[in-house]
Amino acid sequence: MATNSNNGLGGVPFDEKAHLLDVENLNVEFRIEDGVVRAVNGLTYTLDEHETLAILGESGSGKSVSAQAVMGILDTPPGFVTQGSVKFRGVDLLQLPENVMAKDVRGQKIAMIFQDALTALNPVFTVGWQIGEMLRKHRGYSKKEAKEAAIELMERVRIPDARDRVNAYPHEFSGGMRQRAMIAMALSLDPDVLIADEPTTALDVTVQAQIMELLHDLQQDTGMGLILITHDLGVVAEVSDRVVVMYAGEIMEDGEIDDVYHHPAHPYTLGLMDSIPRPDVHTERLSPIQGAPPDLLNIPTGCPFHPRCPFAKERCTTDDPQPNSIGRNGHESSCFYWEEVQRDR
Ligand SMILES: Nc1ncnc2c1ncn2[C@@H]1O[C@H](COP(=O)(O)OP(=O)(O)O)[C@@H](O)[C@H]1O
Ligand SMILES: [Mg+2]
Repeated sequence: MATNSNNGLGGVPFDEKAHLLDVENLNVEFRIEDGVVRAVNGLTYTLDEHETLAILGESGSGKSVSAQAVMGILDTPPGFVTQGSVKFRGVDLLQLPENVMAKDVRGQKIAMIFQDALTALNPVFTVGWQIGEMLRKHRGYSKKEAKEAAIELMERVRIPDARDRVNAYPHEFSGGMRQRAMIAMALSLDPDVLIADEPTTALDVTVQAQIMELLHDLQQDTGMGLILITHDLGVVAEVSDRVVVMYAGEIMEDGEIDDVYHHPAHPYTLGLMDSIPRPDVHTERLSPIQGAPPDLLNIPTGCPFHPRCPFAKERCTTDDPQPNSIGRNGHESSCFYWEEVQRDR
């Protein structure tokens, strides 16, 4: 039986009432010579249509690996999903064979803009050719049809003079324009979910803001679910609905962006916020979090953040607090002393 990817995936029907994306208790490890790198430990989130979710954390907190697991592109071995589920409209992607993931899921249902997007374009092909590639491959477009579609996509991502620039090579594009081309490519098959991994990190501040605005506008137009992976809350706060704060592969805090931003309930979130400039809080000096993120080969016992935490007590060295409901609209904190954290603010 041919699979109809509009009603289901790999013969499994969609559940009309399910979330667009529902990641539950995702665990990923890398089995390497030195031991086991526990990169993602119990990540749980949902994403609906028209929703933007920020996944926030310092470098090395498991953000990119979690996205690779969702897309089914983990480097296996050494990487393995050891627990959990990744449901798209109720269908667990982790149970689907690779051929279904390649043909019906990646690009069509869930597209991703990779962290190293600026170097991801192939220097020997024109930008337009690369934007049209998925349409030739998946939709059987002719070269001419794909080129016209590429021009339209370039216009959608606001690349000026698209009809001329469709024939340009990547080196003829600025960093911001290359990132727009990557976004055009990701949108070519009209995905339901777009995961953008550090989409603005390599760009200067004004271009960052423009790319964020573009992603936000595209999301509003299409109603797709958008996941913004970032280490910088300041860049995504304005366009996000919800946020998941990750540390050592675990959720430290999650909730609606306004609640987390204005009523942070985890010392790690506080630390992240104090290390970025905020328009609403006047500070003389930014204070980065003391110390460094842990080696995921050797995660501290108890709460993984305790060695760096100004609120840590004896209990935090032995017990690992799980996300705990602390307020409205699903606001959760994985800190035993969240009330103290909020009082301190
Ligand atoms: N192919 C791999 N082999 C071994 N370890 C890996 C591999 N890819 C990622 N990791 C480890 O997984 C952890 C999380 O990495 P990553 O998800 O890239 O962090 P982030 O995106 O939050 O900066 C890191 O400790 C990294 O070293
Ligand atoms: Mg990353």
